[in-house]
Amino acid sequence: MANAFPSFLLLIFFSNIIFENTHACNHKERSSLLFLALTLSSPHLNWTSTDCCNWEGITCNHGGWITHLQLPSKGLKLKEGIFPSSSLGNLTHLTHLNLSHNSLYGSLDQTELLLSLNDLEILDLSYNLLFGVLPSSPPSCHIRMVDLSSNRLHGVVPSSFFQQAWNLTSFNVSNNTFSGPFPSSICRPSSSLQHLDFSFNNFTGSISSGLGKCSKLQVFRAGNNFLSGSLPEDMFNSTTLEEISLPLNSLYGAVSDRISNLTNLTTLDLSYNQLSGVLPLHLGKLSKLKHILLDSNYLEGSFPLSLMNSTNLVELRLGSNNLEGDISMLNFSRLGQLGKLDMRKNNFSGILPISLYSCKSLKAIRLNYNNLEVQIHPEILSLKYLSFLSLGWNKLLTNVTGVMKILLGCKRLVVLSLASSFLGEEMPNGVEMADFNGFQNLRLLDLSSCNLSGIIPSWLSKLKKLQVLDLSHNRITGSIPNWLGTLPRLQTLVMEFNQLSGEFPKELCTLPMLVSGQTAAQVGRQYLELPFYFRPSADAKPLQYNYIFYEPAIHLSHNCLGGNIPIEIDQLQLLRWLDLSANNFSGNIPDQISNLKYIEILDLSMNHLSGKIPASFTDLNFLSSFNVSYNNLGGPIPSGTQLQSFNASAFEGNLKLCGAPLPNKCQTTTKGADAPDMSTQDADTKEQQIPWFYVSVTLGFITGFWGVCGPLLLMRKWRHAYYNFLDNVQDRFHVMIAKRMASIKRRFV
Ligand SMILES: *[C@@H]1O[C@H](CO)[C@@H](O)[C@H](O)[C@H]1NC(C)=O
Ligand SMILES: *[C@@H]1O[C@H](CO)[C@@H](O)[C@H](O)[C@H]1NC(C)=O
Ligand SMILES: *[C@@H]1O[C@H](CO)[C@@H](O)[C@H](O)[C@H]1NC(C)=O
Ligand SMILES: *[C@@H]1O[C@H](CO)[C@@H](O)[C@H](O)[C@H]1NC(C)=O
Ligand SMILES: *[C@@H]1O[C@H](CO)[C@@H](O)[C@H](O)[C@H]1NC(C)=O
Ligand SMILES: *[C@@H]1O[C@H](CO)[C@@H](O)[C@H](O)[C@H]1NC(C)=O
Ligand SMILES: *[C@@H]1O[C@H](CO)[C@@H](O)[C@H](O)[C@H]1NC(C)=O
Ligand SMILES: *[C@@H]1O[C@H](CO)[C@@H](O)[C@H](O)[C@H]1NC(C)=O
Ligand SMILES: *[C@@H]1O[C@H](CO)[C@@H](O)[C@H](O)[C@H]1NC(C)=O
Ligand SMILES: *[C@@H]1O[C@H](CO)[C@@H](O)[C@H](O)[C@H]1NC(C)=O
Ligand SMILES: *[C@@H]1O[C@H](CO)[C@@H](O)[C@H](O)[C@H]1NC(C)=O
Ligand SMILES: *[C@@H]1O[C@H](CO)[C@@H](O)[C@H](O)[C@H]1NC(C)=O
Repeated sequence: MANAFPSFLLLIFFSNIIFENTHACNHKERSSLLFLALTLSSPHLNWTSTDCCNWEGITCNHGGWITHLQLPSKGLKLKEGIFPSSSLGNLTHLTHLNLSHNSLYGSLDQTELLLSLNDLEILDLSYNLLFGVLPSSPPSCHIRMVDLSSNRLHGVVPSSFFQQAWNLTSFNVSNNTFSGPFPSSICRPSSSLQHLDFSFNNFTGSISSGLGKCSKLQVFRAGNNFLSGSLPEDMFNSTTLEEISLPLNSLYGAVSDRISNLTNLTTLDLSYNQLSGVLPLHLGKLSKLKHILLDSNYLEGSFPLSLMNSTNLVELRLGSNNLEGDISMLNFSRLGQLGKLDMRKNNFSGILPISLYSCKSLKAIRLNYNNLEVQIHPEILSLKYLSFLSLGWNKLLTNVTGVMKILLGCKRLVVLSLASSFLGEEMPNGVEMADFNGFQNLRLLDLSSCNLSGIIPSWLSKLKKLQVLDLSHNRITGSIPNWLGTLPRLQTLVMEFNQLSGEFPKELCTLPMLVSGQTAAQVGRQYLELPFYFRPSADAKPLQYNYIFYEPAIHLSHNCLGGNIPIEIDQLQLLRWLDLSANNFSGNIPDQISNLKYIEILDLSMNHLSGKIPASFTDLNFLSSFNVSYNNLGGPIPSGTQLQSFNASAFEGNLKLCGAPLPNKCQTTTKGADAPDMSTQDADTKEQQIPWFYVSVTLGFITGFWGVCGPLLLMRKWRHAYYNFLDNVQDRFHVMIAKRMASIKRRFV
């Protein structure tokens, strides 16, 4: 025991020496880290023990120098909103810096931060709030990977950055606001670059980057910019390329046949450009191709037969081009992996080949707007994953009953669009549909423009997930069934241009998705296998939507509906568009309509409505389009309201209606002794409460229908994301949304 004590001490002594020599971080490094920790407001890092090499996120080399600082997704925030350049910059042996997915807010312009890290190899500051410009040279000549994506950096990306980065393999600046020309020489001879991502920025000009010299390039992304010019010819010399993604630019010219040199290509995304010419004949030689996205260009000519040999194809999207040819020539039987086929809006003709049904992985087929002779065979049931089927606006598809009966077996269908088919048949409603347990996942059903007769079929009442029902432009008779109001998810009802009679059922005023925001919020968004696109304006980029828009609307115009508009209508709190025009509705316009506080478009024209326009319409702040023309309305148009900002045509055809914007003045006989007082006072209070209101009305007078409503614009700022121009006609539902957005934009922008 006597000897044990000293030897124990000895052990501690030695272990301390070993500790000092191999791990203990040097003092300067420790104080730099502590300084860094001090600049952070959150979270509190548990950097307390003596040896900083053991701290969370820290790795040292044998000399006790810090080489790795890795604190991704730690919720890091800076106290002063200043990036701690002096503390980080002192960690001169750092090779790996990963602070991605934090909330670091600061300017990258404090370049000493990066420039003093002369050993840095990996730099990942992605998903932060960094702004400023990129330095003209990399932090170190050893840099291998730069990820600055998803920040707010701007300015140009200088070519010089790449010139000193000998070993750079990956460079990602996507999702910032970089602008200016594309760096002119990215690839130096024997460049080791493999991944380049410039997407989601504001780069302009053409891509003249010497990409051909990047002899190891695998991924090249520069989509969602403002790039123009033709595809860089030398890109086709980079035979190592596996992905080319340049969608949503303004690239023009043809896709060179030389693309078939890129034998390792798996993804080719050139959608939403202005490419023309024919598709490369030998595209199908690229046996590894999985994703071909060439939608929305000006491509012409025929479908390259070679593609039918691309056995690895997962996604083939050629929609919205000028392609043509007989599709019945195509043999899809080798495309066992094909999941998405989109050839909408082309000039394809011929019979849809039955071999398509052998593509067992198909989830989505969109072939609408062609000249195809579509037939639905029972074999379609072998497509077990089919969830998106859009075949409308082709040559006659017949036997609606037979077709629906077959499709009932497609258990996963979410979108079914067969518009402009079956012309003149009867709505399936018989025993065929009686024993019914299909369509349990259906969210959008479009049977519009089919000229179908019969009544609204009761089997629809079983579609518990239906959100959008479009039966417009048919010859449907009978009344609107009460059960329609019980469909738990119905949010868009389009029944215009039919021969419906009877009343507007009170029960329709209980549609859960239009009544309660809570219900609406609970209904999750279903991912759609093929997206829809909207353009914010004619010259803006389309935005992609992979879900069904929440479009609370009831369209019943051009029917034979009559009776009063039910006062219960005010339950439809979330309604944005109500169109009851061209029916036989009579009685007063219910006051209660002014409780529809989100209503944007209200069309009651061409009915037999009488009485006054309710003064409470003042409350309809979001109204952007309004029409009560050709009724029997009378009395003054409520003045001092935004109703004055609409065109006189919105009120015409009502003989007894008077006041602005109609030219006929109201006779002053109604003005009693106290009435004028009341109204002025009323107007005054309103002005004080909401001063903008006066402004908007005044401007409304000056600019008429195109009135400017600044404050409303503010209220609707989030609506900036709303798009007034449909990228290309896809179906009535989306045209409708586009129209409403156009109407809003006209009024608020
Ligand atoms: C960084 O290094 C400089 C010069 O060596 C020194 O003056 C400064 O105090 C150091 N900063 C920190 C936070 O250690
Ligand atoms: C801080 O880290 C030390 C060891 O590094 C550990 O013993 C201690 O429990 C940690 N404290 C907290 C609050 O996590
Ligand atoms: C940074 O850390 C995140 C999260 O662990 C990781 O996904 C990412 O790959 C890292 N970055 C680099 C360049 O290694
Ligand atoms: C580049 O990488 C190679 C191989 O890993 C290495 O030998 C060379 O030193 C590196 N060059 C620089 C400047 O880091
Ligand atoms: C670049 O970063 C973004 C995230 O900001 C990521 O989605 C993308 O895949 C990255 N690009 C490459 C080529 O890795
Ligand atoms: C772009 O960056 C923003 C903000 O950092 C982020 O919310 C968004 O998800 C990023 N988008 C992509 C496509 O990575
Ligand atoms: C980038 O382009 C968008 C769309 O045109 C524009 O709104 C934005 O101001 C531009 N940003 C910069 C930094 O140029
Ligand atoms: C592409 O490679 C060919 C030879 O393979 C060469 O003749 C041509 O100059 C290269 N093109 C460019 C633009 O580098
Ligand atoms: C294509 O990919 C394979 C496997 O990844 C690789 O061995 C081959 O070198 C690549 N070809 C070219 C031209 O890069
Ligand atoms: C590339 O394709 C062109 C034309 O298709 C051909 O003449 C050339 O030999 C090919 N180059 C390589 C390297 O395969
Ligand atoms: C498809 O491949 C087969 C054999 O693999 C070949 O005979 C045929 O010519 C190819 N078809 C096209 C159009 O390239
Ligand atoms: C319609 O289709 C059903 C089922 O496929 C079939 O039984 C019926 O004969 C067809 N009717 C017509 C008129 O072709």
